[in-house]
Amino acid sequence: TRTMTEFFGEYGTGKTQICHQISVNVQLPPEKGGLNGKAVYIDTEGTFRWERIEAMAKGQGLDPEQVMNNIYFIRAVNSDHQMAIVDELQEKIVEDPSIKLIVVDSVMAQFRADYTGRENLAARQQKLNKHLHQLTKLAEMYDIAVVITNQVMARPDMFYGDPTTAVGGHTLYHVPGIRLQVKRSRGNKRIARMIDAPHLPEGEVVFEITEEGVRDSQE
Ligand code: GTP
Ligand code: MG
Repeated sequence: TRTMTEFFGEYGTGKTQICHQISVNVQLPPEKGGLNGKAVYIDTEGTFRWERIEAMAKGQGLDPEQVMNNIYFIRAVNSDHQMAIVDELQEKIVEDPSIKLIVVDSVMAQFRADYTGRENLAARQQKLNKHLHQLTKLAEMYDIAVVITNQVMARPDMFYGDPTTAVGGHTLYHVPGIRLQVKRSRGNKRIARMIDAPHLPEGEVVFEITEEGVRDSQE
């Protein structure tokens, strides 16, 4: 909590699945890694599935109805809407202090769609910056975990270094407090790599996407 965490990675690496899972897990008691909290889920791509929440709730031995009631779901239809939702969140959080997680999946998709072309890049970055700072402020003021996702594309033209780069220009490189890269491994296995965490060591974990949800890999 009190910081923004970014999961970035290519298509199908599990970013949305992680967002679903943390919206369930935040509801667990502290001794099980949760915060006894509720979640706000801002979906910008239309990939949220209540059925998936249901399966993950069962996987954690929780009552699916109750878990679903503790997730405030909002679908953002464009970037202005996405920003307006965050504008109004403060009021919602004051009203319901049990909100402990805000998810934005994905943070960039609507901005990319609304601001095409090089001539609009500066305007996009300015709006995006405002949006990200607003989210960070909510995290800090109300002791909330803000989690955003960002799809990155493979760069086949790059032969050296990491073949993926975050889309969003430099903005996203500096605003999030913690950045995790998600990569594909064999089958349903994925690798999450901690990058740029100020208070945590760099490291990698292997996880799996199963019917019950996102789990540590047994390997
Ligand atoms: P983009 O949004 O396209 O960038 O991808 P993403 O990183 O959000 O990927 P997502 O979280 O959607 O992960 C997709 C993968 O999760 C699929 O390839 C499946 O392997 C797995 N998955 C999604 N839904 C289910 C499900 O209901 N059951 C199981 N077992 N796996 C699922
Ligand atoms: Mg996704």
